[in-house]
Amino acid sequence: MQFTDTLPMPPADALEHCNQLIHKIKAEIEQSDNGISFRRYMEMALYEPAYGYYVAGMRKIGEAGDFTTAPEISPLFSQCLAKQTHEILETLGGGDILELGAGSGIMAADILKQLEIFGSLPAHYYILDVSPELKQRQKETLQKYVPHLLERVIWLDQLPNAGFVGVILGNEVLDAMPVDVFTLANGIAKERRVIWKDDYFAYQDETAPDLLNSQIDKLGLDVSSYLSEINSNLPAWFKAISNTLKQGIVLLIDYGYTQQEYYHPERHMGTLMCHYQHRAHDNPLIYPSLQDITASVDFTAVANAASDADMDVQGFTNQAMFLAMSGLEGFFIERLNNNPDQQYPLAQQIRILSLPAEMGERFKVIALGKEFTQTLSGFSQGDQRHRL
Ligand SMILES: C[S@@+](CC[C@H](N)C(=O)[O-])C[C@H]1O[C@@H](n2cnc3c(N)ncnc32)[C@H](O)[C@@H]1O
Repeated sequence: MQFTDTLPMPPADALEHCNQLIHKIKAEIEQSDNGISFRRYMEMALYEPAYGYYVAGMRKIGEAGDFTTAPEISPLFSQCLAKQTHEILETLGGGDILELGAGSGIMAADILKQLEIFGSLPAHYYILDVSPELKQRQKETLQKYVPHLLERVIWLDQLPNAGFVGVILGNEVLDAMPVDVFTLANGIAKERRVIWKDDYFAYQDETAPDLLNSQIDKLGLDVSSYLSEINSNLPAWFKAISNTLKQGIVLLIDYGYTQQEYYHPERHMGTLMCHYQHRAHDNPLIYPSLQDITASVDFTAVANAASDADMDVQGFTNQAMFLAMSGLEGFFIERLNNNPDQQYPLAQQIRILSLPAEMGERFKVIALGKEFTQTLSGFSQGDQRHRL
């Protein structure tokens, strides 16, 4: 295994677990003449049954984990999402909620709490997550904070059948999807593959397969030397979601850019990022199964995949604007009145969620609808759909 001076050394049992996955990936590489695609490597590192980062039982999210997310930082985030969700459910005259990738379960707990206050609890709050460890943690969180609402929460192993009416939510799920990595040098596109060399994983760039080539072509990049990623799974993913959704809204929050910004000539090193124990770095080839690997989201590709799957883009804005339009200030004042000694931590939470240099601009919110025409209040100002 490859180590690095800049990251903490994993404990022995974690290293053993990691070594087992390395053997599996290496075995797959050895079955091929030219290694495996980066996308396949990322898929195995994150999702290989029993071994992958999201599938195996190690703590990932929160202070004791590798990274933290908006619902972990503040309940104000989930309260704002609850307000938008409440409005959608009211318009629909009822409906359910489906949360994709629910992490520790804290967002589900805070949303359910707030919907109870609004008097618009859904009959069902479905959760679909690939991680057995996180499912267990979600159950514990909901049991701790909203035990009386637990009977409404149902864990799924796959998307519900067609006919779902309501709201589908996903915070930081898109960035966890495996991506293809490509390079461009003097107009020639190559696919980045992962090989095993001198006892380590290494990269090897090979002629890009036709499908990837045509996707790269469509980006119209006019650069002499470039490296970036493409999430080729988006069309299939949105088709599956669209097959489930009969009527309602899908709200996805994640860090990313419009396509023009994503593939800007200056962003020539791509957006891949790894997190291990709250340290960010850019080497996905170390610690497979122990570290998170993510890529920023191309929201234009998201919008196109959703449109191709018969969903309408109903709103696109940054997190700061969405939260401001979804009652952030009111929820802040309410919490402050109830907890006057919490002024500093609450103000700090608002700063992290909203300031442009923190999560406010880098994180975006996109709303995708089906048979839903009502304007969404979270996008009533600062809607940036024209930029997609
Ligand atoms: C970065 S974490 C975000 C967790 C949580 N939403 C939050 O904001 O704290 C990604 C989550 O998505 C889940 N996940 C990854 N791929 C998924 C998929 N294809 N379907 C459903 N959940 C998935 C992971 O298990 C994890 O719970």
